[in-house]
Amino acid sequence: MSSAMRSTVTLHAVSSLDGFIAKKDNSVSWMDSSGDVYEKGVTDDGAEVIHSIDCYVLGSRTYEHALQLGWPYGDTPTVVMTNRELPSTRESVEFYSGDLKRLVGEILAPRYGNVWLVGGAMLGQSFLRLGLVDEIRLMIAPVILGDGLHLFGDSGAEQKWHLKNVVAYKNGFVELSYRRQSTDS
Ligand SMILES: NC(=O)c1ccc[n+]([C@@H]2O[C@H](COP(=O)([O-])OP(=O)(O)OC[C@H]3O[C@@H](n4cnc5c(N)ncnc54)[C@H](OP(=O)(O)O)[C@@H]3O)[C@@H](O)[C@H]2O)c1
Repeated sequence: MSSAMRSTVTLHAVSSLDGFIAKKDNSVSWMDSSGDVYEKGVTDDGAEVIHSIDCYVLGSRTYEHALQLGWPYGDTPTVVMTNRELPSTRESVEFYSGDLKRLVGEILAPRYGNVWLVGGAMLGQSFLRLGLVDEIRLMIAPVILGDGLHLFGDSGAEQKWHLKNVVAYKNGFVELSYRRQSTDS
């Protein structure tokens, strides 16, 4: 675990081409590779990036879905946002309720440098509205869903983002990485 005076908060999501991160029935097979191959793409299991993450932050609905699907966050410290009394399932999980600026500035910043906000839409949009997201990493799946949960549905006012990196994968997924543009530039 690394310590920092300020965390970098990265919003990460897998999105369809038309901007949805979940189907109405919550099924996830749309994220599976279709077997299609993009020859110029790379293969990378993302292990190095995952090892660099100090803490995950997620909303309670994403948490409950992750428990159903199989816990993907290992033993990395994980903060789950909820106003409910949820049963504790793992030592690495803590629950938090309330002010997100305080969460980022007072609770996460002294403990974690690299914070990944992994959804869902409701929590991601709250962070975006408050200007608490430093980076966005969007993994675009080669599929149009037509309906579902929109990642950026209610994200607030216009914000400019700076493209940092693009990675195209052999399976047709494309990862777009952005850094927030300074508002005073
Ligand atoms: N494709 C992807 O990359 C991706 C990533 C993540 C999630 N998902 C999907 O997205 C869906 C869930 O997203 P969602 O937008 O419905 O829900 P969500 O953001 O995961 O969770 C919303 C819940 O978080 C809690 N919450 C939010 N802000 C809070 C605050 N300031 N203080 C306390 N609690 C707070 C509330 O929990 P309580 O109701 O408990 O109070 C709220 O109901 C699932 O289907 C999941 O699988 C997809």
